[in-house]
Amino acid sequence: MSATSVIGLQWGDEAKGKIVDLLTEDHDIVVRYQGGNNAGHTVKFDGQTYKLSLLPAGILRPGVDSVVTGGVVINPRAFLEELEGITDRNGGIDGDLLISSRAHVVFPWHIAEEAVLERGLGGEKIGTTMRGIGTCYRDKAGRAHAIRMGDLVQLDTLRSRVGSITEHKNRVLAALDPDAVPLDAEKIFEEYRGYAERLVPYVTDTTTHLHKALAAGRRVLFEGAQGSLLDIDHGTFPFVTSSNSSGAGIHSGSGVPERAIDRMIGVVKAYTTRVGGGPFPTELDNEVGQHIRDEGNEYGTVTGRPRRCGWFDAVATGYGARISGVDCLAVMLLDVLSKLDELQVCEAYEIDGERTTDFPGQLEELAAARPVLRTLPGWNVDITGVRRLEDLPSQARAYLDVVAELIGSPIDIVSVGPDREQTIMVSRG
Ligand code: IMP
Repeated sequence: MSATSVIGLQWGDEAKGKIVDLLTEDHDIVVRYQGGNNAGHTVKFDGQTYKLSLLPAGILRPGVDSVVTGGVVINPRAFLEELEGITDRNGGIDGDLLISSRAHVVFPWHIAEEAVLERGLGGEKIGTTMRGIGTCYRDKAGRAHAIRMGDLVQLDTLRSRVGSITEHKNRVLAALDPDAVPLDAEKIFEEYRGYAERLVPYVTDTTTHLHKALAAGRRVLFEGAQGSLLDIDHGTFPFVTSSNSSGAGIHSGSGVPERAIDRMIGVVKAYTTRVGGGPFPTELDNEVGQHIRDEGNEYGTVTGRPRRCGWFDAVATGYGARISGVDCLAVMLLDVLSKLDELQVCEAYEIDGERTTDFPGQLEELAAARPVLRTLPGWNVDITGVRRLEDLPSQARAYLDVVAELIGSPIDIVSVGPDREQTIMVSRG
């Protein structure tokens, strides 16, 4: 058995797409196992940019299979648009594409409900991507009003489920918002029937498929979406996503046990970003934060929202690394820090006068945390052409050493630009 996983250790957007794309060269199957089209993965090569939301990044590599497992929530319209976008540009997809019959389906009522719920939160908004992801996962946990891919492709089941659920949802929506426009069950059924007809060739039992593939020695790469600190159980609740976006989600989302994974790569930005609400101890709400935003093009792939930017937070990221259980790190976007004279890294928090390196489980404590910052010299050199660790300026290497030391994991990969080639593979003896 051979499996690798790529997990974000911060609040998402760690540039995991680039790492997945690079590693895909040495894998046969790439698997998405949680989240939905709230995720945005950007892959750049040969001067082309691909933005992926639901499809595994392996879809871009000839001969690599793509698997979307039961832990993912699928908006079929978004899925098909993405698939057709790639097919139009590349003349088709080369490997097999498989979608789990266990994956839950996002319907218009999920998006409508999320809009009403977020509006109702006023100043306490979670700041979701408004894709109906949380409401779909909620219905999955609630069981009574959920439709899975396996039901979608059974048209009789689909018609009756859409009918009864729409009736229920219209009552809920009307109670939440007197101005709500009722949903039309027949229209929804017709629309989703069209999606089902196009998706049916891909729908199968991906769990059994993956078990057999691993037993046959095929190399599997698990592609995490979002980041460990957005994990529904272990993240900064309630400012989290609705799935297990830390390493915890691999097993539950795919049915592949954790012991099948031999290499867990934790992806981190050389600094920190966050989209949406929630405390952010190292946030730089000033010109340095704006500089990082501009240099790193820190605007959401999915929503276009400006991302909040701040210094590297070793307390938060170290916690992310521990809950996901990583073997090594990939440090991304190091080049974004190149023009700063001085850099800071958060090595501890001070909460109510007490210094700690423990990440608080309670939101109020995190909101009260003051970062204890270590100052490091910048390098003021363009590093985007560097391909070997020893060719980095000594200050950049010192910065990486501090990151590795504070997180307690070796660095295997350093990214110095968006392109596939702009990568330093660190060889360890
Ligand atoms: P939801 O996943 O759309 O429900 O949004 C919940 C929270 O997770 C919000 O703060 C979003 O901004 C955040 N979030 C969801 N997906 C991503 C992602 O791919 N990158 C970064 N943040 C995300």
